[in-house]
Amino acid sequence: MTRQALADLVIVANRLPVDRVTLPDGTTDWRRSPGGLVSALEPVMRANDGAWIGWPGSTDDDVMEPFVEDGLQLVPVHLTADEVEEFYEGFSNGTLWPLYHDLVAKPEFHREWWDSYVRVNQRFAERAAEVAAENATVWVQDYQLQLVPQMLRELRPDLRIGFYLHIPFPPAELFSQLPWRRQILEGLLGADLIGFQLSGGAANFVRLVRGRVGHKTHRDLVYLPDGRTVKAAAFPISIDAEGFIELAHDEAVQARAAEIREALGSPRKVFLGIDRLDYTKGIYARLRAFSELIAEGRLDVEDAVFVQVATPSRERVEQYRILRDDIDRLVGRINGDLGRIGRPAISYLHSSYPREEMAALYRAADIMVVTPYRDGMNLVAKEYVACRYDDDGALVLSEFAGAANELRQAYLVNPYDINGMKAALMEAFEADPKETTKRMRAMRKQVVDNDVTAWASNFLSALADTRPEHGKAVRPARKR
Ligand code: G6P
Repeated sequence: MTRQALADLVIVANRLPVDRVTLPDGTTDWRRSPGGLVSALEPVMRANDGAWIGWPGSTDDDVMEPFVEDGLQLVPVHLTADEVEEFYEGFSNGTLWPLYHDLVAKPEFHREWWDSYVRVNQRFAERAAEVAAENATVWVQDYQLQLVPQMLRELRPDLRIGFYLHIPFPPAELFSQLPWRRQILEGLLGADLIGFQLSGGAANFVRLVRGRVGHKTHRDLVYLPDGRTVKAAAFPISIDAEGFIELAHDEAVQARAAEIREALGSPRKVFLGIDRLDYTKGIYARLRAFSELIAEGRLDVEDAVFVQVATPSRERVEQYRILRDDIDRLVGRINGDLGRIGRPAISYLHSSYPREEMAALYRAADIMVVTPYRDGMNLVAKEYVACRYDDDGALVLSEFAGAANELRQAYLVNPYDINGMKAALMEAFEADPKETTKRMRAMRKQVVDNDVTAWASNFLSALADTRPEHGKAVRPARKR
């Protein structure tokens, strides 16, 4: 291994914050992924000789050395094809993902998947132990790596360790199905601070630790027998609001938004859904609700169109393949039954787009429809709100998305209630602009005041406040 500078701040995430792209001449290069996490962490990473450990996302068999990209130190973790199948597609996305999302799909429990999860988590922990400077701060991300905090603490007791779960943490009644529930709880307890999207998730965790592991707890604190205290609290994640506002004002983006509306036949109102193609997102029920409104004559295809963007995701996992086929069929049927020439009821795109195109879509849409059955936060809802700088547009939002906690002025719906969703779509469609402006203004303030930089800074400050005797801590400067 090439030696590299030791880092005072180490981010450990399943994925590296870069994507491999093929250039016109056939060579490959790295491009920064569009996510808000990396833009939020970039300043604090630069200020603290930060390193980011993650899987490059390929199944190629070349083991890669650490490299520097655009000033960020990146440390790839290699996964074999079997590990991609058992750790990533299997235990992470076939067991934990559905289990943590309220059993929207049935989780599968396989012992080989668990063994792979343990092995891969150990590898991430070892990499972090190699890269972190003495007394450094290590921040582990998400459900794929829940054993890393404890494994890392074994290797490096000097470190200050934070963990953040981006997805919901389920109620004890559901979590308790997991054959390895105790190992996961103990894995997480290796951290000094465990962050959740909502306080409900933190409370579920503390209750489980008390009941299943038997540690003493008080409110958001867990007292371990070795004298350590672990804090579990909510830190709702957000977006790079300033970045989106800037994009939304961009001339090219505005021109593109106008072009999109025209290409859709300049309907009176454009409804929009943008999701990873995932069964938690409620895409099927949402499209059905919309199509029933057309079939019943409450909406007309001359007046209204639904643009649904579904970003390809986890395509080798069975349940995702089934979902794709189901939605393909549904869209075909709806458009076949209800569309007219040049006027499909649903404009469906199975593709992923750069941020500019997303911003243009947000600008082009009158009504954003976000109706997951369960979602840790849902950043698309916040991105839409950020882009509506004229305080126009309406958001129809599932009460089971974490974002509903903050975006109280959305048209809130229960995604299991099709009639309720139809009523909310109509309410948003017919709303008086004064009403939508009032709602949007309040939501925009919420999103702008609580952006992803504030999120990262709140978490890192709270982490720095744990174990004050420990000394050295990463304290990010606030942007504003
Ligand atoms: C969710 C998870 C992330 C994950 C992302 C994309 O947002 O919380 O950890 O990276 O989905 O899924 P993928 O499986 O492609 O990484």
